[in-house]
Amino acid sequence: MDLKIVDNYSKMSEMAANIVAGLMQSKKDAVLGLATGSTPEGMYARLVEMYRQGKIDFNSVVTFNLDEYVGLAPDHPQSYHQYMKKNLFDHVNIKPSNTSIPHCSGNDNPGEVCAEFETKIKQAGGIDLQVLGIGVNGHIGFNEPASHLRTTTHLVELAEETIKANSRFFESVDKVPRKAITMGMGSIMGAKKVLLLASGENKAEAVRDSFSGFISTETPASLLQLHRDVLVVVDQEAASLIKSSFL
Ligand code: PGA
Repeated sequence: MDLKIVDNYSKMSEMAANIVAGLMQSKKDAVLGLATGSTPEGMYARLVEMYRQGKIDFNSVVTFNLDEYVGLAPDHPQSYHQYMKKNLFDHVNIKPSNTSIPHCSGNDNPGEVCAEFETKIKQAGGIDLQVLGIGVNGHIGFNEPASHLRTTTHLVELAEETIKANSRFFESVDKVPRKAITMGMGSIMGAKKVLLLASGENKAEAVRDSFSGFISTETPASLLQLHRDVLVVVDQEAASLIKSSFL
């Protein structure tokens, strides 16, 4: 595992965008695993800028998003479908048919939705680069701390901490969906390369617990230490609790 500590959010976003762009330049049909949330917004803004400057081309790129709330229509303003359109898809030449975000309305069979999503990842040849944020509780995707973690894409009940953290995007905490579909730990670990980003003091504990040399399903991100090609890019605040002896 490689851990890079950068000055601030802006530098983290720049480094992340350069890594994604570098892959796209060397592999035109790169398969990207994408994350949502506040953390990757700056990275997406830079990728859009590079696209406008003609430095990268999304024409053959294929994407898979980590997760989505259950029961939110794709046009709901807080759905991750809308997030992706607003932050990236509407501004670049990606083909909508090359983008996949797990979607489960209240009526769909979650098991079928999850199995189809896994099949699609396999048919695409697997994910070349998976971008991740990290929850304040150490979750990745919506793989919440638990005694057992699921391997493949599955339906999950969100942790109270996650509902609270994400309520900032909704009118009130009661409006946050309680369930989501998320890639599992195996889906994430199956990516050829993983890039985890973290910024801000509120992520410091999760970063310390995830990358200190121990693994626990109670800190799902810690399992990434077993992956053979992981780059963690954190800003000074998110790195503030990492002891130098861990590095
Ligand atoms: P954030 O979420 O980027 O909005 O902090 C990260 C996550 O929950 O994985």
